[in-house]
Amino acid sequence: MSTDGSREPVGVIGTGYVGLVTAAGFAALGSEVYCVDIDEDKIRGLEEGRIPIWEPGLEELIAVHRERLHFSTDLAPALAHARVLFVAVGTPPTYSGDADLSAVHAVVDAMPASDRHALVMKSTVPVGTGESIERALAQQDKGFAYVSCPEFLKEGSAVQDFLEPDRVVIGEDGGWAGDAVEALYAPLGAPIVRTDVKSAEMVKLASNAFLATKISFINEIANVCEETGADVVEVARGMGLDDRIGPKFLQAGIGFGGSCFPKDVAALKQLAGNSGYHFQLLNSVIEVNELQKRRVIAKLQKHLGSLVGKEIALLGLAFKANTDDMREASSLVLSARLQGAGARVRAYDPVAEAEARKLISGVAFASSAAEAVAGADAIVLVTEWPEFRELDLAEVAAAMRGSLLVDGRNFLDPGAARAAGLVYEAIGRPSQSPSPVSAG
Ligand SMILES: NC(=O)c1ccc[n+]([C@@H]2O[C@H](COP(=O)([O-])OP(=O)(O)OC[C@H]3O[C@@H](n4cnc5c(N)ncnc54)[C@H](O)[C@@H]3O)[C@@H](O)[C@H]2O)c1
Repeated sequence: MSTDGSREPVGVIGTGYVGLVTAAGFAALGSEVYCVDIDEDKIRGLEEGRIPIWEPGLEELIAVHRERLHFSTDLAPALAHARVLFVAVGTPPTYSGDADLSAVHAVVDAMPASDRHALVMKSTVPVGTGESIERALAQQDKGFAYVSCPEFLKEGSAVQDFLEPDRVVIGEDGGWAGDAVEALYAPLGAPIVRTDVKSAEMVKLASNAFLATKISFINEIANVCEETGADVVEVARGMGLDDRIGPKFLQAGIGFGGSCFPKDVAALKQLAGNSGYHFQLLNSVIEVNELQKRRVIAKLQKHLGSLVGKEIALLGLAFKANTDDMREASSLVLSARLQGAGARVRAYDPVAEAEARKLISGVAFASSAAEAVAGADAIVLVTEWPEFRELDLAEVAAAMRGSLLVDGRNFLDPGAARAAGLVYEAIGRPSQSPSPVSAG
């Protein structure tokens, strides 16, 4: 990676997970970066050095390159200083499963007429969005160039993913802007895929749908393992060494969540349906994922019988480790289902409590894992936070009222858990018979 100090300035519209990481990344590469967000509190906080999200390395990167980062609720500075404007506003799901493009349209509508600027779409949008935006820009005589540059970063390693991307996809239908975007990313040395706008949009949706399919696939294999006595961890290890398959996204668990997979899979399914094609495989991927989140309940009931009045400790709430993002986290469904079944739920997450409190009700929050498990009838490990591997399982077992540990991520060592006196249940791994004493 090289920076030459004379890099093109950029604008970034939307300073959430993607926008803020993109802004910090381009600042690190040497660009002046003009960030815009409609959220006044967020912009004020950023100006004062407060980072609104928990993302490893981001705070440090922003601090180092702070002088090149400019924050505003006004588009004017970005338009004045930069010709390339990255758009990273949210595209959440609607009730129908389609992507809500209202924030994207608000950005397009806010643009003045200019033949000097380009909008570069990082937000994940349905195929055809770029075409309709280009049409709208042309109808309004705005003269903007348009580029699709989908984002593939993963929360939890987003900074590293910006700096070392597997590829950069640039979709454009002619003009200067594709070359400008390629030049901005060139110092990273990543493969650059130049293509048309629609194909770039589809690369993003298809990539996430494929990864989600891999997760649902291994979760179904895990469920069959439970019926047949095989161990899905061994199965995944054996499968993953085949380089046509690869080891990633073959970890069985309690289903995928987060701000991207659920909504992008639903959006691709809807996109296909709206275009007249029934995407049967994606229906199954979604259904398997929903059922997977609920299987933990059956595991608890197998050992505890009725959950009415039972104390259940949730270790981890974030949709995965190394993020505070709670959007579509499996813990949301799980905590609601547990309370619906009459259980009392206590939860601990090292970083996501503040976000969780906005979305979860009726759950008591503990300030440590030890506090969460004290007096519990059962523990469910929901998020694979590294600190849970450091737990002294004998102390955990001694502090509990019961002895059941359901490892929703196959994260702990079964032998160590059982040696500590815990009844250990995992996903797709050989399990223990329910004890006649504890089943109620
Ligand atoms: N989070 C991820 O891991 C990830 C990864 C790849 C792609 N994406 C995609 O990137 C996009 C952004 O995702 P995110 O997670 O960063 O969202 P986010 O919700 O964290 O951030 C979106 C930001 O846009 C701001 N915003 C909304 N309307 C605006 C407007 N009109 N002008 C300026 N700012 C506006 C919001 O205030 C917010 O700060 C989505 O389309 C998402 O699917 C996300």
